Amino acid sequence: MTYEQIIKKYAPLLKEVTHIPLKEVEILLLSLLEKNPIWLHLNYKNECECEDRLAKLVTKRATHYPLEYLTNRASFYGESFIVKPNVLIPRPETEILVEKAELVLKGMKNPKVIEIGVGSGIISVMLATLIPNIQIVAVDINDDALALAKLNAQKFSVEEKITFVKSDLFTNVEDQHFDMCISNPPYIENDFKLPKNVTFEPANALFGGVVGDEILKDIIDQCVKRKIQFLYCEMGFDQKNRLEKYLKSYKTKSCEFYKDYEKLDRGFCVELQS
Ligand SMILES: C[S@@+](CC[C@H](N)C(=O)[O-])C[C@H]1O[C@@H](n2cnc3c(N)ncnc32)[C@H](O)[C@@H]1O
Repeated sequence: MTYEQIIKKYAPLLKEVTHIPLKEVEILLLSLLEKNPIWLHLNYKNECECEDRLAKLVTKRATHYPLEYLTNRASFYGESFIVKPNVLIPRPETEILVEKAELVLKGMKNPKVIEIGVGSGIISVMLATLIPNIQIVAVDINDDALALAKLNAQKFSVEEKITFVKSDLFTNVEDQHFDMCISNPPYIENDFKLPKNVTFEPANALFGGVVGDEILKDIIDQCVKRKIQFLYCEMGFDQKNRLEKYLKSYKTKSCEFYKDYEKLDRGFCVELQS
């Protein structure tokens, strides 16, 4: 069978998991062959010799297993990041957090930043790419995340700007000055029923506690205690009221809540008073 025929043969298996089944079979095929779409366009009518391997990938995808874990790729901020199982897949809305942080960091000479929950490294790696003279301490409790974030830092040649530390929040972070703390922490409430595809991602990257905002509140407390000037965080769409109230118990110079691409509340940028 030709590539064209194979793609048409396997697409119906993905009808329940995606609205672009043909496209996803193509993506899986290209990932398998390490080729680009132009190559496929030129070779549609040629014989496909990897049907068995493609069938395995499509069958796994048909269980709602995320496409990014099969291709080991996700795009973020216009760049291609390495993705691996047991580490959260980058989400497009986190680009907004990076954009907001970039605005304030680019006005500083030698900014020092701590990221809580580095995951695949998208936030720290992008900031290290965008901001000259930045130094970042990036922490996570998940060894697989730290290893993947290091790989992505190497991919973008910014490993010199980032120190990776295995740490539960600030526990293993030396006492030192930071200008900013940035975090997209786990913020989903423990009882929330996840969509099937998300259940393949690590629970400790997703669930933030009984209410969901517990880790966010811990991070706020720690930043106040450590006199960190700027705190930029992503949060759940329904957490604005409670977090706004919580932040009001501290002295702040400014406190802005922002929305994501779907116009849902998604995060906050705070300047704390020293
Ligand atoms: C929502 S993911 C975000 C990953 C990445 N920063 C991103 O935006 O894609 C949260 C990350 O926080 C890590 N994490 C969870 N609890 C933590 C804790 N107590 N201390 C440090 N990291 C934690 C998880 O392992 C996970 O990698």
